[in-house]
Amino acid sequence: MNKIILGNCAEELQKLEDNSVDAFVTSPPYDNLRDYNGYSFPFEDIATEMYNKLADGGVIVWVVGDAVLKGSETGSSFRQAIFFQELGLRIHDTMIYEKNGSSFPARRTGNRYSQVFEYMFVFSKGKPKTANLICDKKNKWSGWTTFGKGTNRDKDGRLIEGKGRKPTPNFSPRHNVWKYNTGKSYTTKDSFAFEHPAMFPESLAEDHIMTWTNPGDLVVDPFVGAGTTTKMAAINGRQWIGIDMSEEYVEIAKKRMEVADQMIQDGYERVYTPEEEQKAGELTHKEISSMSKKNLVELALKLQGGLK
Ligand SMILES: C[S@@+](CC[C@H](N)C(=O)[O-])C[C@H]1O[C@@H](n2cnc3c(N)ncnc32)[C@H](O)[C@@H]1O
Repeated sequence: MNKIILGNCAEELQKLEDNSVDAFVTSPPYDNLRDYNGYSFPFEDIATEMYNKLADGGVIVWVVGDAVLKGSETGSSFRQAIFFQELGLRIHDTMIYEKNGSSFPARRTGNRYSQVFEYMFVFSKGKPKTANLICDKKNKWSGWTTFGKGTNRDKDGRLIEGKGRKPTPNFSPRHNVWKYNTGKSYTTKDSFAFEHPAMFPESLAEDHIMTWTNPGDLVVDPFVGAGTTTKMAAINGRQWIGIDMSEEYVEIAKKRMEVADQMIQDGYERVYTPEEEQKAGELTHKEISSMSKKNLVELALKLQGGLK
């Protein structure tokens, strides 16, 4: 536990206990898009091992995209998803990792739009045992609780005035398209890690770890590359294991775990909704001007009544 392993994950995964991994967060080498110092990718063997090692209720976050070969996307990501499903996993969610830009922006004379996303398949062994949905989508009506009088029906079917609806929370769960800035200092501030050609953003790994696991859970990345997943697992109090078959990347990942150690010592804590953003009841000019007449009337009445 808590180590970076140099080796082929097809073999290294076999050494883990069955049903012991709470979450895999990983991005495999796909469609020969890059040559990671030479790699071997027996997908079906690795997927089967991952399935065996996954705990009941555990999840696999599988971040992939498809190459375009001879004018057609390969569709590998879909075939992989179906394979995981046939092993017995649920396709719990097909999420999107949207990037802020494309390495090959579309040309006006081209026939294809800029590719700016990858899939983040979330496979689960049964129902996910942990789902701490990240609530950082600000509600327009946060704090403005009980516009109108809520009504309920009593057991004879008569409408009775409710005691007031629950206050609208300040934040709600975000949607399943997650957008990240990529590139220097966005993906990570560890500049030495950019020796790896295909890191995913630290926030992406962290957001999945925070969602699907709790402190103390075991998070494994069988294609750990520069150690993004393991770093984010460690600084958030999870157990972690990373595997990569490139000596060069394993060295980077180990260095990254030293950065993690320092962050832990400095008391790192991930906060999604800072306190100053949690103030309730403040509507912007734009929000007020886009209100329906009915809501405006209710707001005026409420203000007249002294904001009860
Ligand atoms: C897409 S990269 C992962 C990058 C990682 N998510 C990060 O943020 O740094 C895929 C990695 O898988 C490694 N790899 C390829 N085949 C492997 C195998 N069979 N076992 C272990 N690692 C492998 C490559 O060396 C490469 O570093």
